Amino acid sequence: MKKDPMEPSSANGRRRFLKGGLAALGGVAATSVAARAGTPDPAIMEKQEWNQALGDGVAARPYGMPSQFEKHVVRRDVEWLTASRESSVNFTPLHELDGIITPNGLCFERHHGGIAEIPPEQHRLMINGLVDRELVFTMDDLKRFPRVNRIFFLECAANSGMEWRGAQLNGCQFTHGMVHCVQYSGVLLKTVLEEAGLKTNAKWLMPEGADSSGMNRSVPIEKALDDCMLAFSMNGEALRPEQGYPLRLVVPGWEGNMWVKWLRRIEVGDQPWHTREETSKYTDLLADGKARRFTWVMDAKSVVTNPSPQAPLRYKGANVLSGLAWSGRGAIKRVDVTLDGGKNWVSADIQGPVLPKCLTRFYLPFEWDGKPLLIQSRAIDDTGYVQPTKNELRQVRGTNSIYHNNGIQTWHVRENGEAENVEVS
Ligand code: MTE
Ligand code: CO
Repeated sequence: MKKDPMEPSSANGRRRFLKGGLAALGGVAATSVAARAGTPDPAIMEKQEWNQALGDGVAARPYGMPSQFEKHVVRRDVEWLTASRESSVNFTPLHELDGIITPNGLCFERHHGGIAEIPPEQHRLMINGLVDRELVFTMDDLKRFPRVNRIFFLECAANSGMEWRGAQLNGCQFTHGMVHCVQYSGVLLKTVLEEAGLKTNAKWLMPEGADSSGMNRSVPIEKALDDCMLAFSMNGEALRPEQGYPLRLVVPGWEGNMWVKWLRRIEVGDQPWHTREETSKYTDLLADGKARRFTWVMDAKSVVTNPSPQAPLRYKGANVLSGLAWSGRGAIKRVDVTLDGGKNWVSADIQGPVLPKCLTRFYLPFEWDGKPLLIQSRAIDDTGYVQPTKNELRQVRGTNSIYHNNGIQTWHVRENGEAENVEVS
């Protein structure tokens, strides 16, 4: 057989890693290697099915799917959370993912009237109101404007909302999984608004969805002209129906509710519209009964995804803690991690890319001695904002809120390696 040119270096690399790994693991790995040598390992000694027969040919999977052994890596929902499946939410399996990009099929879904299935040739985007020319675009029209590619996180304002009054859901998928991060391709909203021509009194936009919920929100013109996008692709392929195919609004760093999916119309006005979604919903009720409105930006937040309740610790000795941090105000500058409930903090190893308004991946290699841990992470963004504890947040916001909970999460790891959602702040 022809030698793979990559082989010598990768084999060496593996050997080097093993050596380092063994040294770090101390006795644990050495015993298991010895044990393996004593009892013949069928994974090495026996011929396997996949060695002996040809596999599927090239046309067997015209659209590739994950390995059959990854079937547990799925979006999940919590049935008691919502009254219907059509106005509901499911959650990204954060504990199963790595890097910063969320695969399209695993992006959490939040819709208020089910998934609209729209033939792209029948989709239209109308721009009306305070513009020089009211315009209607087809998808083909939009694809003829100069294009941009940008990676952003989207977080629902209700992410971690169930945790306001105390630890509740057992798993980072459920406590923090209303977030995803993908690369969008599309047109800057500014480009299309300039084509319509904004009147001098144009101060607000109202994007509106074509789904049965007709989702609509008021967006200030400064944001629209800054970095909003009309996106038709995610991670290189057309948007998924769940994410608003064929067109969605991208509102970087701001609460997910404003990222109108199945976008069919943008009205331009001189005042906000005070829609349902910015009055009775997506407002922050304070302790004194007053509600904060238009709290659009998602503040810095982080979560340790591994270990976590759905991803227990399995080995003593060397382990790698992993997690995600993000900020709607800019880039993540530092992430601190504690294993003892906040007595000692260390800076985590941020593994790039580190982009503004994006998920950022961090790791902390650590030795586990089998004793209980209280694991937390704390994000700091490049504006200097420090992610608060849950109690710090409650001092300002009270306990009536659902939305915008960016408090520090704690996982309690027991001696058997299992983790549970607790609060120590
Ligand atoms: N747009 C429309 N047209 N209909 C909706 O129900 N839900 C909003 C927003 N845009 C919604 C919508 C909410 S609350 C969120 S958090 C995001 O879409 C979720 O985006 P995703 O489903 O791509 O994760
Ligand atoms: Co939402």
